[in-house]
Amino acid sequence: MEILIKPTNQTILASAGSTLLDAFLENQIPISYSCLSGRCGTCRCKVIEGSVSGPSAAEGRLAQHGQYVLACQSKVDSDSVIEIPEVDEIITHPTKTLKAEIVGYDELAHDVRRLRLKTTKTYDYSPGQFSNLTFWREDGTRSYSMAGVVEDDILEFHIRIVPNGRVTSKLDSEIKVGNAIKLNGPLGASYLRRKNSDPMLCVATGTGLAPILSIIRGALESGMSNDIHLIYGARTEIDLYGIDVLDALANKYDNFRYTITLDHAPKASAYFQGLVTEAIAEYFPDLKNWRIYLAGAPAMVEAASLACTKRGADIEQIYADAFYPSGV
Ligand SMILES: Cc1cc2nc3c(=O)[nH]c(=O)nc-3n(C[C@H](O)[C@H](O)[C@H](O)COP(=O)(O)OP(=O)(O)OC[C@H]3O[C@@H](n4cnc5c(N)ncnc54)[C@H](O)[C@@H]3O)c2cc1C
Ligand code: FES
Repeated sequence: MEILIKPTNQTILASAGSTLLDAFLENQIPISYSCLSGRCGTCRCKVIEGSVSGPSAAEGRLAQHGQYVLACQSKVDSDSVIEIPEVDEIITHPTKTLKAEIVGYDELAHDVRRLRLKTTKTYDYSPGQFSNLTFWREDGTRSYSMAGVVEDDILEFHIRIVPNGRVTSKLDSEIKVGNAIKLNGPLGASYLRRKNSDPMLCVATGTGLAPILSIIRGALESGMSNDIHLIYGARTEIDLYGIDVLDALANKYDNFRYTITLDHAPKASAYFQGLVTEAIAEYFPDLKNWRIYLAGAPAMVEAASLACTKRGADIEQIYADAFYPSGV
């Protein structure tokens, strides 16, 4: 089977039975990947023409913009034309399973905990990626985004305690500093794109702030001079956390500023009153050529993605980390 690769216009041959990713790698086609098992979404690419069988890699609005597949899980059934994303933004941090020691567990807000882990082996990741943490048996595994950058000594996670959540509601009583937990990752395709000078709009609600902080710090601390705007949404003032970190970044870097939105604020609040989508509509009428990073509840991610495309953002430059609940 012949595959024409866009945008590079190379033609490669895929042998029968091999995955699209195998065909790419055999032919030195640049493509990002991590888990090789269909979990992380990093190897997502777009089918322009032809028949490709495999799980869809697009949910919600992205699915309306074409057929996206996971290269590591898909096979070509006919001659095809496949578009690979961002040839100059390739990341390959092979997914690993490691033991990590819990070195800190404290409260960031009434319902948000900071978990700090130390690994004995190096754990490379790109800002914005996540890990699967296994707190106890396999049904105690959940995904959490790294809140720091790879240069930090300690891995940091922000975990919202979900009422009656099968894992999070037990963390306050089960987590003991000094204990070991299993870490698997890194995973996720919503990582910082570094090779551009486009303005960046980051939108986070709740603990969506964790991957967004990682992306913002990753950009600022590596010297990116892109204008970076954050919209950080919560219900009320007591649900906010991390303002001291945001203030320190805004004081240190002229190219970073942030807006807080509260959708259940009292009338007298100094913060923007409304949803993050209302703040997008108010402050960002034209998002053409912007890079958009979204993280938090799936409904917010869908609504913010729609608000951004309506204002000219390219769906391919919207990187979204929706905190879908676990099936187990
Ligand atoms: C890629 C990815 C990254 C994630 N990163 C983070 C992160 O950095 N920080 C973080 O706190 N969470 C994050 N999550 C969510 C996390 O993996 C768990 O789903 C969450 O902690 C709930 O687990 P639980 O076992 O307590 O709840 P479950 O028992 O799995 O769910 C209980 C109920 O709560 C609902 N629910 C689940 N999560 C939420 C929520 N956040 N808000 C409201 N209702 C919810 C479920 O629909 C279900 O009805 C991420 C999820 C994904 C997929
Ligand atoms: S490498 Fe294909 S989904 Fe993770």
